Parts: sequence; C-alpha cells; structure tokens
Amino acid sequence: MEKTLAILEGDGIGPEIIREAVKVLGAVERKYGHRFTLQYAPFGAQAYFDEGSPFPEKTRETCDNADVIIKGPVGLALEEMNRIPPEHRPEIGAILPLRKRYDTFANFRPVRLPGKLAHFSPIRPEIIGEGIDILMIRELVGGIYFGAKIEGPATGMRYATDECTYSQEQIRRVAAVAFEEAVKRSCGLFNIHKANVLATSRFWKEVVDDISQAYPQVPYQSLLVDNAAYQLVRNPARLNGVMLLENMQGDILTDQAGGVIGSLGLMPSACIGPKKSYVEAAHGSAPDIAGKNIANPYSMIGSIALMFDRCLNLPDEAEEIWLALFAVFEQGYVTQDLAQDVHARQKTISTTAFGDLVVEHIQARS
Ligand code: IPM
Ligand code: MN
Repeated sequence: MEKTLAILEGDGIGPEIIREAVKVLGAVERKYGHRFTLQYAPFGAQAYFDEGSPFPEKTRETCDNADVIIKGPVGLALEEMNRIPPEHRPEIGAILPLRKRYDTFANFRPVRLPGKLAHFSPIRPEIIGEGIDILMIRELVGGIYFGAKIEGPATGMRYATDECTYSQEQIRRVAAVAFEEAVKRSCGLFNIHKANVLATSRFWKEVVDDISQAYPQVPYQSLLVDNAAYQLVRNPARLNGVMLLENMQGDILTDQAGGVIGSLGLMPSACIGPKKSYVEAAHGSAPDIAGKNIANPYSMIGSIALMFDRCLNLPDEAEEIWLALFAVFEQGYVTQDLAQDVHARQKTISTTAFGDLVVEHIQARS
C-alpha cells in the first residue's frame, strides 16, 4: 500500500514519542512491503510562536493532502502558554479546528490492561482479575465543546455560558459506529449519560435506546456517568466491552481510565471522520519531562496500530504492533511513568530503548 501521512510532532515530548512511532511505522512498512511518504508540518504552541498560528495554513494543506494525520500532543509550559492569546492556544486554535475540519466524530480510545500486567494499575490485582479490555468511543465534534460560548461583562453581574447541543444525527452516527464495533467484538455496549439531570443526555439516551433495538444481539445497558466513574475504579472488568460517551463525559472518563490502567502513557487514540482521520496520544505534552528521553511512547506507538486497523484497514499490521508492545512489557521493561520499586524485576528504560525493543520484536516475529 502507498500512502501519504501528515506528521504533526506537536510540543513537549511530542517529537520524542513521534520519533519512536515513526521507527515502528518503518519496521512495519519494511516487513509488509508498504510505502509511506511522511510530510512533517508544524502544529501546536511552538507553531504559534514560529508561524503566528497553532494550525498554520501550510499545515492545513499538508493535512488536506494526506491520507491519515499522525498528531503528537500539544502545549508548552504554563508561562509560555500565558503568552499566547486565548484564541491561539493550541486547544482552541488547533485541536478543535482540526476535529472540525475533518469532522472526526468518532474517537476510539482503547483501555487495555491484560491480567499479567495488573501491577501497572494502582488498583489491587484481584480487582483487575483477568484484565481490562474496554473500548471507549467518544463523540468528538459535538456537545458543550462546540456550543456557543459567552463570557459575560467584566463588570456588574459577571457570568459565563457554554451551550451544549446534540442533534439526532450527531448521536445516531456515533452510536451506529459503537454498535457495529460491539457486533464485531461480540461484546456488550454500555451507553453512558447523565439523563437524570441533562436534557441533552435524556435525548442522547432516547436516540441510543432506539438504535439498540436494531442490534438485539448486542447486550445493551445504560449507565449514569457518575456511576460509570465509580464502576471504572471499583470493578473495571465489569465494563469490558464498548463504552459509548458524549464529548465532555468521554474526555473525563478516558483520562480516568488512563489512571486505572496505570498511566496516561497507555492511552492511544484514533479520531475518525467520514473522509479523513487522525491518530494521537490521548495525553498531554508533559513539558516538564520534554527532551529527557524518559517519556512513554506506548500511546503514540499504539496510535500507529490504531491507524493501521481503523484508517488503513490493515488489521494484521495493527496486531503485529500490539503484540510487540505487550511483549516488551511482559519482559519486564517499563518507562519511568510505570516503574514501581515493589516490582524489582522491572527494568526501567528510555523512550528510544522502548521504541527499539518494539522494532526488534516486529523484526523477530516471522
Ligand atoms: C483530549 C484532550 C483535548 C480534549 C484537549 C487538549 C482539547 O484533553 O483529547 O482528551 O479535551 O478533547
Ligand atoms: Mn482529555
């Protein structure tokens, strides 16, 4: 297969973890005889300082012309971020416009922790049991993130408003993706909402309940988001399956899930649109550890696996990467975010060493 990939390295640890992801991409490319053309383009806070925009026009063009976009995390240290006008900060000025431009409505965030790696989790191993295998599917271009925003007058009665709106079609299309996924995996679907309080959630539940009728083979259950947050810690394996979430609730629970499995460094992410998609690490740019070669590249490398599977329809290549990633962990290698002294047999390694080991596993497997 020949494809053009846009690479947005982003800020902080972005370039370091992207480097490892590209290394792994190259190993798969050679092994399977693909040809990828990589087009690097600036994106994020540093792009604002260098180009005057966190999502410059030339980056938009590079993305428009690419088959898939691979995006690193964005954001610099607080003091530099404070020097950027609010509308040019990377969240508002780059990430949301990227999502909107390609209408990337379905965000896949797999939450995986095999029982063998239960010690990564801050939760007791008997609670992790056989392991956690949840696919969180988050609606990514609707709801409160994209509603009208009002910041009231600076004097008198001060107030602010964020509107939350969901149309039937916005809910339907992401729910359909989630049910199809549950069929594919032969698992249940948990529909998360706050229908006891929010009108948008009542509507969300109504629409999803309705769609569930068309999937009698998928065990379907609705859960209030606060209860889901509790279950995720108290009995995460109970949620094994597909979890469907709206934008804001999905943002919060996906980070919580990262905590449950031991690190946000274990959270890859794919943002799927009707025509174009991007993959990313679900975590931030960690400016405090940037340049030290200690960041965990798993989320970024896992995002390459998601790209093969979700964007290029090459599941074997994806599986090759997952197997290699878990093989590295099973040999006791970890990056600093996962290191615990209670497990003396763990060997803490650098970002580059981790990428090298993943590549070695891919090359060694026949
Ligand atoms: C995420 C991030 C983004 C979000 C931010 C950076 C805009 O937290 O992808 O989860 O809130 O969606
Ligand atoms: Mn988030």
